[in-house]
Amino acid sequence: MNKDKNNQAVWDKLSKQYFNNFAGSDEIEPEAAENLYFAWPVMEKFIKENVKDMDGQRALDFGCGAGEVCEKLAAMGLATTGVDYSEGMIDAARKNVGDTVDLHLGDSKKVLEIAAKDGKFNVIVSVLVFPFIEEIESVMRDLQQSLNEGGLLCFAVFNEEWVRRALENNIDYEQPEDSQGISKLILNFRENRRVEIFHRSKKEYDNILEGLGFARLLEEYPLFPEEFISKVYPGMPADISEYIILGYKKT
Ligand SMILES: C[S@@+](CC[C@H](N)C(=O)[O-])C[C@H]1O[C@@H](n2cnc3c(N)ncnc32)[C@H](O)[C@@H]1O
Repeated sequence: MNKDKNNQAVWDKLSKQYFNNFAGSDEIEPEAAENLYFAWPVMEKFIKENVKDMDGQRALDFGCGAGEVCEKLAAMGLATTGVDYSEGMIDAARKNVGDTVDLHLGDSKKVLEIAAKDGKFNVIVSVLVFPFIEEIESVMRDLQQSLNEGGLLCFAVFNEEWVRRALENNIDYEQPEDSQGISKLILNFRENRRVEIFHRSKKEYDNILEGLGFARLLEEYPLFPEEFISKVYPGMPADISEYIILGYKKT
């Protein structure tokens, strides 16, 4: 199985519970809720501050998983599309938000097709997807081409300081034998559900996106409450965010 197929198969498995907060609270694993509850408010504020009139504006959630962020975008009045390359995730999203969100199985090439057919997007969000993609430049190029001029790109990725500490403390991350540093790691979603992860700094994202004509407007590090950290990540400090949230405008 090639690397990408292996990652897809892990996402298919995880779609059953891990990233499906629509499942009963007794069914989801505790750390699964964090993307939505800690990353989303920062993104929502950024979109509200930068999009004057939501009605009729087109939003894409790239790597939409089970559809939680799609639901939030649609509730803001944005005409929302979700794209994910895991069949399991898209099936879960269809069940959860299929009535209000346009959902497609595929990767950034699918996004290009949708933009060519139905129109470019005004807002693209992506929550914890880019770190799982090795060929990030070509994906960013596809997203840039699918976004209107003046459009927003806002995404959450892992924060370098958190990743270093977690690796030191043997929490979630493993170092593959053939790599040093933190640019290529394995993220183990417990019970041996492993995906490859490609860590990049804010500077690396800035360089890629500035090269594609984006200007950065947002850099935020939302913190988890202490009780969440001690329950889900015992041993990790509460004053380091797991995420960095970056927001850019296409100029
Ligand atoms: C950590 S999950 C996050 C899901 C969702 N954004 C959330 O916050 O709950 C990563 C998602 O990215 C998707 N993904 C990873 N690489 C992708 C790619 N190249 N194209 C489309 N989806 C991708 C996976 O299938 C998975 O659903």
